[in-house]
Amino acid sequence: MNRFGEEQDPLFRRINSSISFDWRLAEFDVEQSKAHARALAKLGVLDDAELGEVTEGLDRVAGELEGGRFEFADDDEDVHMAIERRLTELIGPLGGKLHTARSRNDQVATDLALLVRSHSARAIVLLETLLGTLVDLAERHRDWPAPAYTHLQRAQPVYLGHHLLAYFWMFQRDARRFFRAAEATMEMPAGSGALAGLNWDLDREAIAADLGFERPTSNSLDAVSNRDFALDYLSAASICAMHLSRLGAEIVLWSSQEFGFCQLPDSFASGSSIMPQKKNPDAAELLRGKAPRVAASLASLIGTMHALPLAYSKDLQEDKEPLFDAIDSLELCLAAAAGMLDGIGFNRDRLADAAADEMLAATDLADALVQEGVPFREAHGLVGGLVRSALESGKSLSELSGAELDGVPENARSSMSRALEAGRTIESKVSAGGTAASRVGEQLEQARASLTELTGAIPRDS
Ligand code: ARG
Repeated sequence: MNRFGEEQDPLFRRINSSISFDWRLAEFDVEQSKAHARALAKLGVLDDAELGEVTEGLDRVAGELEGGRFEFADDDEDVHMAIERRLTELIGPLGGKLHTARSRNDQVATDLALLVRSHSARAIVLLETLLGTLVDLAERHRDWPAPAYTHLQRAQPVYLGHHLLAYFWMFQRDARRFFRAAEATMEMPAGSGALAGLNWDLDREAIAADLGFERPTSNSLDAVSNRDFALDYLSAASICAMHLSRLGAEIVLWSSQEFGFCQLPDSFASGSSIMPQKKNPDAAELLRGKAPRVAASLASLIGTMHALPLAYSKDLQEDKEPLFDAIDSLELCLAAAAGMLDGIGFNRDRLADAAADEMLAATDLADALVQEGVPFREAHGLVGGLVRSALESGKSLSELSGAELDGVPENARSSMSRALEAGRTIESKVSAGGTAASRVGEQLEQARASLTELTGAIPRDS
């Protein structure tokens, strides 16, 4: 007997069911159920023998799940019901006692928090590898001159190591964001019931300790409808995927014949089905291509949650697919980015030629004039005139002479020609965080220290 006089319509089942995707919560659901059973035993709802049987049954379910032997049934609406159904098949009606003092509403929120915590940790470990690869690459290319751009126009030269370290800092901030996402999963919803709490004084502190939470949540309504930790993960993931897309986009440009600054390992490139000469940077393109999909998952979950009245509504079941998709995309992209960078080669001569373009020293010429007392704005105009004469006459800046230098104060000319000497521009960027070799050296030390700190903060399973 139950409340319903009719079978569920197959269409209703299809729209209502989440088993096709929420099976990914299974390991967390079993873990949670074991902790819940221990708390039920403390309440006297299960006696010692029953606790033993339930625990053993759950272990068998876990074994079947792990071994791929778990058979999902057609009317398993979701992972929680599938596990309870199987447990009851294995241990009989006792399995039905497990759902005392809980609801799928607090159960699913708890599973999801555990999953988000686990994947936040995974993202941090993947970032750690990527950061290590970047800092090693930067070390090896610390003194290779390279052009740097604004508006994708050559602007000023930097050392390649400096350029690579720019990505280090982006990903270092991402790692911090994933620590914060993990932190947001530390309050445990379990024990909130369907929405109002339970008729039992379940030892929530003990369940929380069992499952690695810091504390139980303080408000049952909030607990069953909160998905902020998933939003925190998705927001960290969106920003990280955006950083990966910038890296990918730059590699696409740099590996083109037009730039010719780098080449990808053959193992991270594909050919064309028609043009035999092609070597395509697909992985780099996909770092770019997958980023909006991760950001869309964040938008999707915000969309699901906005305007939802308290507490649980079935809309919340839509939290999972975008989250899982973002997790899979991000983890793949992080691993692929590290693999691709591991085998990347840079073309020293091409980079150096582009960096040696005298035009990139134009700011330094203006600064040389400033040293001789010319106000910067005026110096900027004077050098702009020199650039124009050079472009018109097809000469380089250092080749300008005679009337072409009209207006340039005599006393500034020698410091201006010094500014045009090879390598001067890069080494003149001496401010902290700048590209002068000594500053890049400092930065490498900061990066290594930051990576060591990150490594030390990663929780390792015993
Ligand atoms: N499959 C559901 C979900 O993912 C579990 C919670 C169901 N709760 C309910 N009141 N029907 O949200």
